[in-house]
This record gives sequence, structure tokens and C-alpha cells, in this order.
Amino acid sequence: MALVTTTEMFAKALNQDYAIGAFNVNNMEIIQGIVDAAQAERSPLILQVSAGARKYARPVYLKKLVEAAVLDSDIDIALHLDHGEDFAICKQCVDDGFTSVMIDGSKHELAENIRITSEVVKYAHDRGVVVEAELGKLAGIEDAVKVDSASATFTVPEEAAEFVEKTGVDSLAIAIGTSHGAYKFKGTPYLDFERLKQIHELIPQTPLVLHGASSVLKEFVDRCNQFGGQIPGAQGVPEEMILEAVKHGVCKVNIDTDLRLAMTAEVRKYIIDHPEDFDPRKYIGAGRTAIQAMVSHKIRNVLNSSNRM
Ligand code: G3H
Ligand code: 13P
Ligand code: ZN
Repeated sequence: MALVTTTEMFAKALNQDYAIGAFNVNNMEIIQGIVDAAQAERSPLILQVSAGARKYARPVYLKKLVEAAVLDSDIDIALHLDHGEDFAICKQCVDDGFTSVMIDGSKHELAENIRITSEVVKYAHDRGVVVEAELGKLAGIEDAVKVDSASATFTVPEEAAEFVEKTGVDSLAIAIGTSHGAYKFKGTPYLDFERLKQIHELIPQTPLVLHGASSVLKEFVDRCNQFGGQIPGAQGVPEEMILEAVKHGVCKVNIDTDLRLAMTAEVRKYIIDHPEDFDPRKYIGAGRTAIQAMVSHKIRNVLNSSNRM
């Protein structure tokens, strides 16, 4: 098998009751945990790499690890750049063999976002690579883009239609109330489903992308805290809300925080439970198993993407 683009994955998922999980990867164990779960579930998969992940692991290591995962499995895997901040990083990833890139121009005014997205679309499409863009601002923190909740703005449906038409982008990340990280809501979780439906009605053929889609499951936060962590007041998007969003054009669901919590909880537990042990393979291996279990749970119960291969 070779890496694939997301075109066929999204075409199949659009308007069905399932979505493709896009999981952030930073090292070998995270990649193995995710791919082993998707392989066992026969689920298509997107592995996504942020600028921070490239800096941490170094681009060539991640690329080679993902190539190894493709050789070691027989499911469809797309390699995607998450939150590319400018043309240069998108170009680098296209040139490096990524099959999908995100240009995140959401911090710019509409006209500038359209301009840089169009530039990336032209370069990527000429080389058989697909492009995701973002319109509207999510609150939260990524390496490249920091947005506080006061300046977060939801996507305007008419602008989304104009944006897709003018840029020719393949998929669109929208802002309807999710945010990155483990602190998504102060009070009751709220997503603007009316807005999502309007966007989907105006651009029914465009796969929509939900960033900040981790659910920050209590069990994992509690386990982190039980074994020495300090993550008070964390809250994510309830999994029923993700299931609902998937019914209205959301084809790609981005999950990073839930993997971080699962891995951290298990590594913390292992180290506390085995004070005599100092073999990194033991505790990182426990973290890898936790990643696999989390991804299996998402695929089965939230994304509904099992047996789609
Ligand atoms: O959207 C953000 C992802 O969780 C990646 O986070 O920039 O810390 O790698 P990162
Ligand atoms: P979470 O922080 O909710 O996992 O979102 C990840 C994400 O959107 C990556 O682009
Ligand atoms: Zn994101």
C-alpha cells in the first residue's frame, strides 16, 4: 500500500453516518498505537503532523515512521500537515510527499485568507495533493496560531460558500464552538449546530472538518490527577455532539488532546506502580497501548468508521 489522499475517504464518508479520524502524531509509539487500532478496526485513517511535531521529531523521522506504518498495515492512510501557517511549510510538506496539507489562514482577513489558500491549492493540486483550509477562528493554542476566546469567531455560512468557490479548496475547517486543548468550555458545552447545518446546506459537497474535537474524557483526566497530574477543570466536546456533527457534513474529526491524556495517564500510572522499573520501553509501551485503546474507542463509538475498508 502507498499513502492515499483524503479524496476518496471523504467522498465515501460525506452524508453518511461516519467520519475519518485525524490523529496527531509526534513519535513512533503514537503512530504505532493509532495505526494498530485502525488496522484492527479496518478503518481509513489520517495521520496528521503539526509544525510543532516536525520540530520535535524532525521531518525526516516522522516521514519515515509513517512510511513504515504504511508498509506494516493494509489500510488507507493519508499523511496530512495540520495547521500549516504559510505557503512555505505547505510547499515543504507537498515536496516531502504528504498527501494532504492544511493552510490555516484563519487569522487573516477573508481576502487574504482566500489569497494564500488559493496559492497553496494551486501548488498542491498541480502535484496531486489535497488541501484543507480554515475559516472562522477557534479559541485555543497551537504552536503557530494562538487565539484567545474573546477573539474567536464562528464561521459565517455565506463566507464559507464564497471561500470554497474562490479557492477551490478540498475541505473546510469551520468554527462552531470547539477549541483546541483540554479546556474547551467553562460552563455547559455548546456547539452551534444551526450554523453547521447552514454551512452544510450552502456547500453540501464540501467535506467539513472539526478541529478541537477531543472529548477530554473524565476517566483519563482523573487518572492523570490520581497519579500526580494537575489538570483541574478540564472539559471537552461531549462525544454525542461529535456524533451529531458527523450527520451534517463533518467528514474529518481532529483528535490530539484525548491521545495526550490517554498516554500521559498510563505512563504516570506505570511509573508510580513500578518504582523499581527504569526501562523506557515499559512505560512508553504502556502509553502506546493506551493510545491504541483510545483510538479503537473513537473509531468504534464516535467516528463509526470501522469496517469501511
Ligand atoms: O491543533 C493543534 C494540535 O493539537 C497540535 O498541537 O501544535 O502542540 O503539536 P501542537
Ligand atoms: P484537540 O485539542 O481537541 O484534540 O484538537 C486537535 C486538533 O484540532 C488538531 O488540529
Ligand atoms: Zn486544529
